[in-house]
Amino acid sequence: MKRILLLECSPHRQNACGSHLARRLIATRWPEAELLERDLVGEPLPPLGADYATALTGNAAFDAPGFACSETLIAELEACDCLIIVTPMHNFTVPAALKLWIDYVLRIHRSFAATPQGKVGLLQDRPTLVLVSAGGFYQGPRARQPDFLTAYLRHVLSTLGITEVAFVHLQGLAHGRDAIQAALDDAIPQLQRTTRFYFDSATEIAP
Ligand SMILES: Cc1cc2nc3c(=O)[nH]c(=O)nc-3n(C[C@H](O)[C@H](O)[C@H](O)COP(=O)(O)O)c2cc1C
Repeated sequence: MKRILLLECSPHRQNACGSHLARRLIATRWPEAELLERDLVGEPLPPLGADYATALTGNAAFDAPGFACSETLIAELEACDCLIIVTPMHNFTVPAALKLWIDYVLRIHRSFAATPQGKVGLLQDRPTLVLVSAGGFYQGPRARQPDFLTAYLRHVLSTLGITEVAFVHLQGLAHGRDAIQAALDDAIPQLQRTTRFYFDSATEIAP
């Protein structure tokens, strides 16, 4: 990987477990890669305004002022050859900061086309890793809540044209230090089931 876009979506920012894991993965596997970080909590995107909504529904030119933020974010995505999204689960789905990024990036005529067959992505596919952190469990035998994050985010990415996506789930993080270590330990086999993001190191990542 030459250029990696790291999308940080947690209120804990670089202290989030997923962020530690992502940074270790990058440092171990692609120490030479150029890393572009987009901290959606530390540097919040502006709320969607009438200028963006009007430009979007009015098919404005790509260089219309209302598209400025959207163009910047899409250009960042286009410039990377690998995308890593570090996100918590908030109320069963993506956090508001990530949803806002999606609303700027998933844009008709620019990043997807509406065709008679449905929406078709206009961006190049690229290997993408999504590290999801959750206080509880939403997969496996301990699951006690629905997961509206995984399928939603996979669909959003595929609508952009990004289909080479691996998810790694860090579950049960609200259950104390041992649970956090167990979640990190469990992340390694999940990464090893992927080809692009194979990771061989033991984890000793303090939250
Ligand atoms: C607003 C909010 C909503 C949350 N909703 C959920 C939820 O639906 N399911 C869950 O398992 N954990 C939920 N949590 C807990 C977080 O997912 C958990 O603290 C996780 O470790 C956060 O990861 P982070 O450190 O990367 O931010 C929620 C936390 C917050 C702040």
